[in-house]
Amino acid sequence: SVVVLDFGSQYNQLITRRIREMGVYSELKPHTITAAQIKDMNPKAIIFSGGPNSVNGENALDVDPEIFKLGIPILGICYGMQLMAHDLPGGETTTADNSEYGQAKIEITDKKSKIFQDLKPDQTVLMSHGDFVTKVPDGFEITATSGSCPISAMADPERGFYAVQFHPEVNLTDEGREMLRHFVFDIAGAEANWSMEDFINDAIETIREKVGDKRVLLGLSGGVDSSVVAVLLHRAIGDQLVSVFVDHGLLRKDEAQQVLHSLGDDFGLNIDFVDAGKLFLGKLKDVTDPEKKRKIIGKEFIDTFSEEARKFDDVDFLAQGTLYTDVIESGTDTAQTIKSHHNVGGLPDDLQFKLIEPLNKLFKDEVRELGEKLGMPKELVWRQPFPGPGLAIRIIGEVTPERLRMVRDSDAILRDEFAKAGLDKTIWQYFTALPGIRSVGVMGDERTYDEAITIRAVTSVDGMTAEYAEVPWEVLGKVSKRIVDEVAGVNRVLYDITGKPPATIEYE
Ligand code: XMP
Repeated sequence: SVVVLDFGSQYNQLITRRIREMGVYSELKPHTITAAQIKDMNPKAIIFSGGPNSVNGENALDVDPEIFKLGIPILGICYGMQLMAHDLPGGETTTADNSEYGQAKIEITDKKSKIFQDLKPDQTVLMSHGDFVTKVPDGFEITATSGSCPISAMADPERGFYAVQFHPEVNLTDEGREMLRHFVFDIAGAEANWSMEDFINDAIETIREKVGDKRVLLGLSGGVDSSVVAVLLHRAIGDQLVSVFVDHGLLRKDEAQQVLHSLGDDFGLNIDFVDAGKLFLGKLKDVTDPEKKRKIIGKEFIDTFSEEARKFDDVDFLAQGTLYTDVIESGTDTAQTIKSHHNVGGLPDDLQFKLIEPLNKLFKDEVRELGEKLGMPKELVWRQPFPGPGLAIRIIGEVTPERLRMVRDSDAILRDEFAKAGLDKTIWQYFTALPGIRSVGVMGDERTYDEAITIRAVTSVDGMTAEYAEVPWEVLGKVSKRIVDEVAGVNRVLYDITGKPPATIEYE
């Protein structure tokens, strides 16, 4: 395995992920870990991550100096490199007049350095630092340089110590992955023998150890993350898992049934299903303000879940599908707990659980892979994003049973036709919305004055920005015809061709 020590960079978990992608197990550990603890883990290599602090500053984060004597190869990245220069005799790290942030060109000066073997002599890399190494420690050589950062990389091959000022783990560093591969395989001699199956086995063992014979409560939402957690926990502790599924009645067509069928019937989970559709619709009556809708749904959700949770008074743990991306803080145990409490979204104080978050080291696509490995159906695992407040924020104006039906049924038609056309593989997110426009139409010989439906289809990487998708006219035509034919109360279909920004993906 490769141990990555956490000095607080936003990219630190990405390093572990890059290494797992190579088939080598990697995990992030607090920088306070001792040399003895590392020795027990018997890793092939250690990586010091980047971090926002200055090694010379008051808040400098340090490492157990014995780590340098373990005889295990070390790669220092950014702060990690500065720390090596600071801690090892002969080295020096200085604060620069101007910090450097962005892509930069570096020149590899030691082309034989193992970490840069066979790579282009000029590299585009991501630099992000305020300090820089001004003197390499004894035994080190400079291996790469740039105008603004003369010591861009350094190495002491004898001891297996390598360091780079830039971030090889991000895509903005062109051949960063190759550098990491060289370090992990050629320098540290790791073997690619880890896979998602190992993750499953480890996770199961850890969950069993932690939970013992106690019970665990899980809130199922119908989404990918909570479903994968459910299946993983069920595999680990069977019926000690209590799954509560609050259906707010704002899910897509047949979604609740699909989840119940797949997780309940196929995987044998014991699901406590709370049909709260009427309750939510009641609370949403006459509400048209988007933010008010969201707040009401959020609050009702917590209230309903909490009330249900009280029925299981012998439960010690609460499981959550928190992903690494939800854990914005530095990845230490403390930081993760703080964020998770936010995720629970304010459970009442008298409901006190210990948290279990088995996915908190994984990225979304890793969770999907995990779901597949657990034997979950592709339709469930590859679900597109769906907002917590559900269809309510796709209905402009009041949410009534009738309008909910129009959005739900038109959305089902859209999904059906997009899947038939193979567009479900390429378009990131697509759905219909009810913009609250009524217009005049003619059906048969009759005048109509009905609602319109808009189709929204976007491509995106992370939902932060998006472009409207170029959907073939033929498919749009088919969807339009089916919607007006099959969904009573709709006489017009529009296609939304706005990106984000300026629009958002959802309508409210
Ligand atoms: P917007 O509308 O902000 O949406 O462009 C960006 C992405 O986030 C999803 N979304 C949500 N997801 N809870 C969620 O879990 C929410 O309240 C929520 N609102 C928006 C949206 O579907 C899109 O993928």
